[in-house]
Amino acid sequence: MALLELHDLHTYFKTKRGIVKAVNGVSYQVEAGKTLGVVGESGSGKSVSAMSILKLLDGNGYVDSGEIIFNGKNIKECSMDEMYKIRGNEISVIFQEPMTSLNPVFTIGKQIAESYIVHQHMKKKDALKKAVEMLSAVKIPNPEAVAKQYPHQLSGGMRQRVMIAMALACEPHLLIADEPTTALDVTIQAQILHLMNELKREKGTSILFITHDLGVINEMADDVAVMYCGQVVEMASVDTIFGKNSYSHPYTEGLMTSIPRLDMPAGVRLEAIPGAVPHPLDLPKGCKFAPRCKYCTERCMEEEPELVQVEDNHMIRCFYPEKEARHAK
Ligand SMILES: Nc1ncnc2c1ncn2[C@@H]1O[C@H](COP(=O)(O)OP(=O)(O)OP(=O)(O)O)[C@@H](O)[C@H]1O
Ligand SMILES: [Mg+2]
Repeated sequence: MALLELHDLHTYFKTKRGIVKAVNGVSYQVEAGKTLGVVGESGSGKSVSAMSILKLLDGNGYVDSGEIIFNGKNIKECSMDEMYKIRGNEISVIFQEPMTSLNPVFTIGKQIAESYIVHQHMKKKDALKKAVEMLSAVKIPNPEAVAKQYPHQLSGGMRQRVMIAMALACEPHLLIADEPTTALDVTIQAQILHLMNELKREKGTSILFITHDLGVINEMADDVAVMYCGQVVEMASVDTIFGKNSYSHPYTEGLMTSIPRLDMPAGVRLEAIPGAVPHPLDLPKGCKFAPRCKYCTERCMEEEPELVQVEDNHMIRCFYPEKEARHAK
């Protein structure tokens, strides 16, 4: 069963230069107890679609249309008050830069305890004790001492663990992690990813994991949504996306061939996708990937393909999803 479903979500921003259509009909689901990995180049609308769920958009942003169903309820209609209760109670979020989400004037312990006091109405002393337990659960050495420290006294990796502790403090049903490890070095990144997987296994938490790194997706996700220009262009299980398959979206194919592989002979150049993501104020008329696609036909320049099911649990937005049937120009 899906815990979260986005249906045809459109999120726009009012700017001086016009309406920026950042999210153009995104549909995806996060299944209960599973991780959905959302991947795509910078500017593809990964963060904006996630922030739409939580009503955390910048002031000039708004959800123009679509549905956001969480636990069977359309939360698009929720008031800010209702959303505040859901956030930090049922849905938690971890951002890329932990420093911006931590309050510099309160100790770590107090900030985590706050969640227990506000959402679970715990007494201050019990809440502080729970905060220390949570720090220990995210493998912070010396949790009692760290609870008494301020954010600036911790390293980047420690702060990110604190963010995760805070996000998990209320035992959310859904954790939204937006590039949670991008700013960290690889060893710490690996530890944090491992920790998130462990907590998912133990608590059955669902995770919406946003990244531009396919390697991380492979490690974390059960299902994958590939985004391009504010749309999902391919969605399937992680095994389908990374396995041998007769169907794929040319964009996913391009992302795949740009990952370095250990078995690659030295000196082989990685094939990055040529061209750049179009600006959201100037989107192409037909398929949004057409200008960069090596299989593009006249039809692709004129008409926009729908996201269609090509086989069980596998959706692709392309007129030519079958690999054998298309030819590079
Ligand atoms: N407040 C805003 N006003 C205008 N445009 C915005 C605003 N916030 C985001 N956008 C635009 O929305 C589009 C999608 O941005 P988003 O942050 O979702 O991309 P992303 O896929 O998360 O990229 P990244 O990998 O860099 O985090 C971008 O073109 C961005 O410039
Ligand atoms: Mg982002």
